[in-house]
This record gives sequence, C-alpha cells and structure tokens, in this order.
Amino acid sequence: MKLDFHSHILPGIDDGATDINNAVQLATAMKEWGFDRVTCTPHITNKFRNTPETIRPAFEQLQEALYLQGIDLDLRMSAEYRIVPQTWPEVLEKGWIMPIEDRFVLMELPIFDPTDIGDLKPLEEFKKVVSMGLIPLLPHPERYFYLSRRELMEFLEAGVRIQSNYGSLAGLYGDTAGQNARCLADEGLVSYWGTDMHNLHYVKVIGDWFAEGNLIPDYNAI
Ligand SMILES: [Fe+2]
Repeated sequence: MKLDFHSHILPGIDDGATDINNAVQLATAMKEWGFDRVTCTPHITNKFRNTPETIRPAFEQLQEALYLQGIDLDLRMSAEYRIVPQTWPEVLEKGWIMPIEDRFVLMELPIFDPTDIGDLKPLEEFKKVVSMGLIPLLPHPERYFYLSRRELMEFLEAGVRIQSNYGSLAGLYGDTAGQNARCLADEGLVSYWGTDMHNLHYVKVIGDWFAEGNLIPDYNAI
C-alpha cells in the first residue's frame, strides 16, 4: 500500500486544484506514480478559512469524479493545519481535527514570516496534540528557513514526526530547501515523504524526478 499524506487536490478551496478537472488531473498523476491512497489536506490558515464543512463537499465531488472516470484511488479527508492565531485555536476548540490514518495531524508553521504565529508557541501546540493520543506531523521543515536546529530537536523529543516533500529533493523550492531536505534525510530524521501536490507544475517537476529513478523506498507504507 503506497500512501501520500499531504496534498492540495480538492477543487477550489485553497491554493491547490483550481477546479474539478484540474483536481482529477492531479489525482490521476498521483495514481500513475503508484500511490494507492491519498489523503487530501487542504490548508486551514488565516487566508483559507476551511472547516470540515467546506472540505467535505469538495472531497465528495472529487471522489465521485474519480469513481465515474474509473480511477481507482482511495481518497481520504483531512487538512493541513497552520499554527496561526486566526484558525488553530478554533480548530482545537471546535474539534475540527481529522486525523490522517487515525493517528497523524499535519501541523505546519508559517512558511515565510515567523511572526504570523503570534503568541502561539509551536512546541506547546504540538504537546497538546500528543496529549490527545495523536502524532503531530511537521510538513516540510526544510522550507522553514528561520527554524533553528535546536527547536526542531525539541519538537522531535516531544513526539513530532517529520514529513518532508519529494518536491524539495526534486528542486521545486530552490537549492536551500533541497539541501536541507537531503541533510534531514541523510540523518534519518524524515519519517514520511509527501507530494504536497498543488498544481501541474508539481506534476512535472516531481514526475520528472520520479522518472529519473528517484523513488523513496516504500512510499510511507505503514
Ligand atoms: Fe501543504
């Protein structure tokens, strides 16, 4: 069973798939790469105020379109929760966490501006999720250039697991992110890999990289 835990392929609800046709294209590419099961993780951020109620209709629309087109891909529904004051406390308060594979919660930090996190302390927020019996998955730490090594190690000690992006190794986010991802991988710190699929540019770059023989062993088999 080959799994992907991180994708933005639901139509029209974040910065990923633009419409249902685009969503089917992205899902089809993932099927062709060999994935059996893909968890849809639309952003919940200050910019994309998704809730389970906005995500579910888009999820069902894509599921139905894939079924009608005979594309056998097991879709699952979750979200990528950004730790920002505008949405994360509400997620906790309203019980909007939808665990991936019954155990993981994809919790991203602000990518470019660390001050977006406001007064929240990521370590404390990760610990809250651990205390719920769940495993925080930190997506693409190779892209948080402001994040110190010491902080990352504190996260790991608290029970966070790292999910890096195939695209980082494939050059999708530039040299620094690529080098960071390679270092994390070489040190054995990456527990899972994700496509973080957003659009056809991702399909091209990651697809070319896979076609060169760069396959991550076992695609997150759990
Ligand atoms: Fe993402």
